[in-house]
Amino acid sequence: MVIMTTTSSATFLPVLERIAEEIDHTPGRGRPADYIPALAARDPRSFGMAVAEPDGTVYGVGDWREPFSAQSITKVFTLALDLAREGDELWEHVGREPSGNPFNSLVQLEYENGIPRNPFINAGALVVTDRLQTRTGDAAGELLDFLRAESGNPALDFDTEVAASEAVHGDRNAALAHFMASYGNIDNDIPVLLDQYFRQCSVAASCADLALATGFLARHGIRADGSRLLSRSQAKQVNAIMLTCGTYDAAGNFAYRVGLPGKSGVGGGIIAVVPGRCTLCVWSPGLDEHGNSVAGVAALDRFTTLTGLSIF
Ligand code: DON
Repeated sequence: MVIMTTTSSATFLPVLERIAEEIDHTPGRGRPADYIPALAARDPRSFGMAVAEPDGTVYGVGDWREPFSAQSITKVFTLALDLAREGDELWEHVGREPSGNPFNSLVQLEYENGIPRNPFINAGALVVTDRLQTRTGDAAGELLDFLRAESGNPALDFDTEVAASEAVHGDRNAALAHFMASYGNIDNDIPVLLDQYFRQCSVAASCADLALATGFLARHGIRADGSRLLSRSQAKQVNAIMLTCGTYDAAGNFAYRVGLPGKSGVGGGIIAVVPGRCTLCVWSPGLDEHGNSVAGVAALDRFTTLTGLSIF
């Protein structure tokens, strides 16, 4: 099924149709995440892909209107929201290097004095959410407001079942937060921070919603309403960290195959940015061993091959 929301400029629709056809014939889609039981029930054969143009046109193929759990994709938006408020001071509390480790790893934190490698591993995202919480009093609410405004979808919301499931199975994230607190790198009470983080991860959104919400990174920091969220330089910084850290210990392979800034989540979604040109979101719940969508990476790989669009 293919639907377009507008007819103004669906430049890449034939490419998306071809990719959906190819993916449909591809066996081996990986397995949905099951460490959060509420995520395990999704059908690994689901597939959707959307492109958003800088003017707000959005179109897609397959299940591109189906909401899924955004999970770690939200780490891009909380980073942008915090960076917009506090600027470079953030980098005293979280680094900008790939970790080469799984997203939920603890191992580097002790060697590196409670400063996480980057904002996209869980430890780094907890620091960002903590700092956004300090500045706003409701980090997850700020995120939700932002996503609703940029996607133009006021129905976008948290999934309380997923958030509760995360909390029940949240020992690893709690350990990360307590460990960083012992180094003085967390401001808020840990239960408050974890509640904010789990709600943040639980946001349910579609490929259309997330492709639109990522638009400010293709527009060099400009929001959908024309106001500026990030400076041009900060937008470049976020895109660069997505390229080098957005898919965890598979970021090198993602850059090699796709050649775009991207960010994955264990719900099976991946957002990607062609700076100055468009944004993409692809969703298929089956994951590889690094927590990245198998069909999602394959689809983005085909997109940049077929269009010749990449940052390289
Ligand atoms: O912190 C967690 O375990 C999840 N709620 C988010 C993890 C995630 O999406 C990692 N990405 N691939």
